[in-house]
Amino acid sequence: MPVKCQAKHNRPPAAATTTTRTTDCYQQSFAVPFTYPVHFTHGAFRKTNPVLASIFGPPENGRAHRVLVYVDSGVARAWPRLATRIAAYFDRPGFDLRAPPVLLPGGESAKEGWHTVQHVMTQLGEQHLCRHSYVVVVGGGSLLDAAGFAAALVHRGVRLIRLPTTVLAQNDAGVGVKNGMNEHGQKNFVGTFAPPFAVINDFDFLTTLDDTHWVGGISEACKVAVIRDAEFFAFLEENATRFHARDLSAMEVLVRWCATLHLDHIRTGNDPFEQGAARPLDFGHWLAHKLEAMSGFTLDHGAAVAIGMALDCYVAAAAGLLRTTERDRIVQMLQRAGLVLWHELLTVRTRGGRLAILDGLDEFREHLGGRLTITLPHGIGQRVEVHTMNPATITRGVTWLQTLPPTPPAPSAPAPCCRGVRHPGGRRSPIPAAGA
Ligand SMILES: NC(=O)c1ccc[n+]([C@@H]2O[C@H](COP(=O)([O-])OP(=O)(O)OC[C@H]3O[C@@H](n4cnc5c(N)ncnc54)[C@H](O)[C@@H]3O)[C@@H](O)[C@H]2O)c1
Ligand SMILES: [Zn+2]
Repeated sequence: MPVKCQAKHNRPPAAATTTTRTTDCYQQSFAVPFTYPVHFTHGAFRKTNPVLASIFGPPENGRAHRVLVYVDSGVARAWPRLATRIAAYFDRPGFDLRAPPVLLPGGESAKEGWHTVQHVMTQLGEQHLCRHSYVVVVGGGSLLDAAGFAAALVHRGVRLIRLPTTVLAQNDAGVGVKNGMNEHGQKNFVGTFAPPFAVINDFDFLTTLDDTHWVGGISEACKVAVIRDAEFFAFLEENATRFHARDLSAMEVLVRWCATLHLDHIRTGNDPFEQGAARPLDFGHWLAHKLEAMSGFTLDHGAAVAIGMALDCYVAAAAGLLRTTERDRIVQMLQRAGLVLWHELLTVRTRGGRLAILDGLDEFREHLGGRLTITLPHGIGQRVEVHTMNPATITRGVTWLQTLPPTPPAPSAPAPCCRGVRHPGGRRSPIPAAGA
């Protein structure tokens, strides 16, 4: 005799019979809202800067906030007094910094193997961090991904505060809802969706980037502009040489605008945790991820995305989705900003004689699940999803990339100004005139 369930079912239970039932389903359903602030500031660890401290709120249960801080070793090299300043920042009532800031290797190696993840997980355990404690990570997208992954695993999620320190991390990697590690020879094979507790973009960090990582994040800005916002693309075009000349005020506008577009996409795109087959923000990424893996992850993500977008623009133009003039404007913008659109790995062939990069399409499909879905630009500012990519067109695209003129050297002085360009919120760009 079956025992009758007393719970309230949200659909009528199947009629009770004495015969064996083959199905019995209680349809579970709930929604969880996520909210987190993304701050833009300078000098986040100045004692007088209230932004970071204000994120924590009053102590919970009368106990000081338990905090551990991880710093990208590349950042620490560029800012030798940073660890001391961070420790001094948290030396105030209500905070319990459990250990001096810990330096961890930055760059893609942070995502290779389990050493970073294991180190963070072990220390969180040793220092008795609970689910209401805080992990603060200061670094590039790689360390944010790896340490963020560890924070997401411990107790099924310790609060994570990200302080991204590269252009790419501030305008893309650090503001989103994902973390990841490279495994199984594939980019981001392992990872979780785990929104941060808060993000602080401190523009001062950008001043010590090397040229590669200064321009690398422009790729992600171009990506989101080309598929979502023609006005942003016009801004990028107009200011490309300023970026290349390391104009920080121009870069601040780029970062803010791009980060906002990413946040808007996550909030309004109806698929923040990417359960569908499409990844609209991954324009240019099927090739980027393949090239990164083929290079043994020595090719930077931003550099790879620039090449991936250039090739996909060729494919889009060949399919009549982009005018060739639009394709050329995108390519020229990237080059004027300092991005290189060629890599020898593009020509590597498999034993069967086809381009090795073509395997990236299969890997991309497998990673997404479902059928192959590639986002291509449809004019500048709009996108379209396609489900087939013609290998012959891609092969011709590689030849076309090879014939592009080389990226020009950086201009020595800032180029003409972009004063008056609109950025999110409808306000005028705060970029001062060159030489002002
Ligand atoms: N989780 C996401 O949603 C997401 C999105 C986009 C990219 N990513 C990932 O981000 C990673 C790339 O991140 P990245 O471009 O920020 O580079 P990175 O984190 O690999 O850092 C590059 C180098 O710059 C150094 N560095 C960082 N900040 C510095 C600073 N302020 N001054 C001097 N040196 C500094 C680092 O030590 C490292 O050597 C890739 O692994 C990519 O897959 C993640
Ligand atoms: Zn990317």
